[in-house]
Amino acid sequence: MAMVCLSDFEAYARKYLPKIAWDFFAAGADDCSTRDENILAYKRIHFQPRMLRDVSLMDIRTKLLGTEISFPVGIAPTGFHQLAWPDGEKSTARAARAMNTCYIASTYSTCTLEEISAAAPGGLRWFQLYIHRKREVSQQLVQRAEASGFQGLVLTADVPYTGKRRADLRNGFLLPPHMKPKNLEGAFEGDDRSEYGLPPNSLDPSVTWSDIYWLRSLTHLPIIVKGIVTKEDAELAVRHGVQGIIVSNHGGRQLDGGPATIDALVEVVEAVQGRVEVYLDGGIRKGSDILKALALGAKCVFIGRPALWGLAYKGEEGLQDVLRILQEEFRLSMALAGCATVSEIGPHLVRFSKL
Ligand code: FNR
Repeated sequence: MAMVCLSDFEAYARKYLPKIAWDFFAAGADDCSTRDENILAYKRIHFQPRMLRDVSLMDIRTKLLGTEISFPVGIAPTGFHQLAWPDGEKSTARAARAMNTCYIASTYSTCTLEEISAAAPGGLRWFQLYIHRKREVSQQLVQRAEASGFQGLVLTADVPYTGKRRADLRNGFLLPPHMKPKNLEGAFEGDDRSEYGLPPNSLDPSVTWSDIYWLRSLTHLPIIVKGIVTKEDAELAVRHGVQGIIVSNHGGRQLDGGPATIDALVEVVEAVQGRVEVYLDGGIRKGSDILKALALGAKCVFIGRPALWGLAYKGEEGLQDVLRILQEEFRLSMALAGCATVSEIGPHLVRFSKL
């Protein structure tokens, strides 16, 4: 089968992954309206392309907090990559390095963060943190991430509790016995692993903005807060001294009924006024989606499920294929819209349809 666009990888993953793994990757919360809206919302945004602008030489590179990446797409944190490919997150790290982009490794990885670092030394990596009730567990993770060369800390803000994902409940989702959330091995007593392979209620729902100061006291790494969809929270994030914001609704896996991230992006960018970098994830499936997000003010976007489909297809190679396709599509969309460099992309390129 010719793999031409990301839907081809999605179809492959749906066909060949065990149902329980496919359902876990695909899941949204409740009716999945926010998950689906993340994708549909791009269709309501139309380009106003410019012509005759010499796009013979294209430069699609950009910078994430000062570090150059080959194009403005990174890999969002997702858990349990061994469900997609035996080498799990090690393959993800190698693919991201090969494509010279950023990989945000999840707290819930099936390889340790030290293994991930060793698999692709020198690659740009951020570590995604969930704050646990046992604060010393999170503190140690932050320190391990910094010690093993991660260059940013991504605090996920939208999971005080896990959203209700019906398919996982119906399937009684549990990690197979040979897979573990390895960063957390030994962190919890007892062996009740009923919630996604972890003890139930291990996340701390009492986290507030002031915990950013606690994190700040633990690490020199830049802090990026993930899961912001309003101007009010964007303002609070800036005031609490973060270096970046990821506009995200967790791929529609948390509160169902919230806005598509591309719709929320506009008010966040307006509130932030360039004081920190703003990124987006959710629903990116084509090069033109990336162009729309950049036009509306995102510095970079991240892909969640499509990275898992790439891994399910052929591990490191499959993920590189996914990234390469997005890269080519993005370059083409930019050129057809009349932009030769990312700095030429701006709000003039898009308008929202009234429909
Ligand atoms: C996620 N996401 C996520 N986010 C996070 O901060 N930590 C995590 O461990 C996970 N785990 C996770 C697992 C799976 C299977 C999915 C699909 C998602 C959310 C993820 O980072 C991102 O916000 C969304 O996946 C983006 O939407 P798309 O690209 O999947 O549409």
